[in-house]
Amino acid sequence: MSCSIAHPRPARPLGDRLLFLARWLRNPRAIASITPSGSALAALITREIDRGPVLELGSGTGAFVPALLTRGIRERDLVLVERDAPLAVRLSQRWPDATVIASDAARFEDGTRFAATVCGLGLLNMPVPTVEAILRAAFARMQPGAHFYLFTYGRRCSVGDATLDRLDLSARRVGRTWRNLPPATVFCLSRRAEVVG
Ligand SMILES: C[S@@+](CC[C@H](N)C(=O)[O-])C[C@H]1O[C@@H](n2cnc3c(N)ncnc32)[C@H](O)[C@@H]1O
Repeated sequence: MSCSIAHPRPARPLGDRLLFLARWLRNPRAIASITPSGSALAALITREIDRGPVLELGSGTGAFVPALLTRGIRERDLVLVERDAPLAVRLSQRWPDATVIASDAARFEDGTRFAATVCGLGLLNMPVPTVEAILRAAFARMQPGAHFYLFTYGRRCSVGDATLDRLDLSARRVGRTWRNLPPATVFCLSRRAEVVG
């Protein structure tokens, strides 16, 4: 289901944080954080992306969107997948030219072939089969050579070695930022056959 609800005024960041907190109170496991990601994490997770279209999974309030636009990605080349309906409505209000899909990241309908994926999902809170279904769905929609960027509050990649082996993926650490609450590490997943060196 795509959201196309128009709104005359963009929401303010404080409103975003309050909405995010309210949604976390209703469903802490799925929202996975009490506050949206900060701008330092947004810059880190998008820093290798230089072309669209870009898929974002678990967009929340769209904290990564300004960083993607700064990287030169056009708003209309963004597809934002967010399962929580109030957050999806907020995204479509804030980013009317992006495609907002209020759906599960493992099952969304879209025919775009993406140049990159950015993942804001709390993968550590999900069962392994769900994580694998999400990764399969994303890589099936990604162009050859495209990368999947995720962040975790731990130091290890939130996609385990067994899953990487089963899906024939490799993980590379992109970097860590201390200027996020909590500090976060970004990893890049790639198809093994495409990893050079
Ligand atoms: C940690 S938050 C990240 C939000 C975003 N990066 C931000 O800072 O605003 C995770 C988001 O993923 C969404 N989510 C959780 N499970 C999902 C699923 N299976 N499919 C799509 N979205 C999901 C939650 O509703 C939440 O908005």
